Amino acid sequence: MGIKINRLEGCIGAEVEGVDITGPIDAQTYLQLQDALDEHIVLVFHDQDITDAQQVIFSERFGPLEMSLPSDPFGGGGPVFNIANVDADGQIRPAEDPLTLYQSGNLLWHSDGSFREVPLQTSFLSAKVIPPEGGETEFSSLRAAYAALPSEKKVLLEGLVAEHSMAHSRARIAPNLLSKSFQDEVPPVRHLLVRTISATGEKVHFVGSYASHVIGWPFEKGRDLLQELLQWSTQPQFVYRHQWRVNDLVMWDNRLSLHRGRPWDVGKYKRIMHRTTLAGEGSTVPQD
Ligand code: OGA
Ligand code: MN
Repeated sequence: MGIKINRLEGCIGAEVEGVDITGPIDAQTYLQLQDALDEHIVLVFHDQDITDAQQVIFSERFGPLEMSLPSDPFGGGGPVFNIANVDADGQIRPAEDPLTLYQSGNLLWHSDGSFREVPLQTSFLSAKVIPPEGGETEFSSLRAAYAALPSEKKVLLEGLVAEHSMAHSRARIAPNLLSKSFQDEVPPVRHLLVRTISATGEKVHFVGSYASHVIGWPFEKGRDLLQELLQWSTQPQFVYRHQWRVNDLVMWDNRLSLHRGRPWDVGKYKRIMHRTTLAGEGSTVPQD
């Protein structure tokens, strides 16, 4: 059977059929998938019982992988993020456990790695264990949201620079969630508020829970603008909600989308997801 790309309802996402991503991908299939990702931003694969090693190989087909930061609680410096509410023995952590609270940062709209100087590009998330209810993941199209912005707003945003930080995102959940070593690894960074995707010349805004304020603007005014843009970008008409099945793998372009996990009963049901991520192309703005 050949590969089939079925567009989902709405403005973001497609389901891919007829490909086994646990094995080698030939050049033609790779090109079809890359084109489909560029067009649909989010690709959904079902029934892929993929090991971490296979997921690494599949991901690397699309570009160089980025390692997690050494002190990242779920990555530990390796290529695979184990995003799970269980401890090393497979037991569910208490809902108020600091790691579980840290992980709940994923429930805020974000673009992976926007707190890094070179933000991350494409993410691959595979579902190992999912709760019986809740725990979906939502994706919003920044492409559609940017296109729908009034032109005066596009003019206003042009050239602005925002500060993004891990500390800003996690401070909204609880104080002291980051270890000292992790804090040292993730100082605030600056990103253009509207960046240009180099391969296509496409312009898109760059917001999310890590974006804190606008450089050179009064703090509150910048916060309000970022908040307004985030709300704009995550309106229902721009959003796809993925209802996970075990052995789904979803890949998405972090430059053209935001995503967030949805809550579930974390103290009661296990949820285990493995993520790999491609390195970004470069910094969006000179850092000082
Ligand atoms: C991630 C992420 C959301 C989820 O893995 O980057 O944000 O629903 N996950 O697990
Ligand atoms: Mn994420």
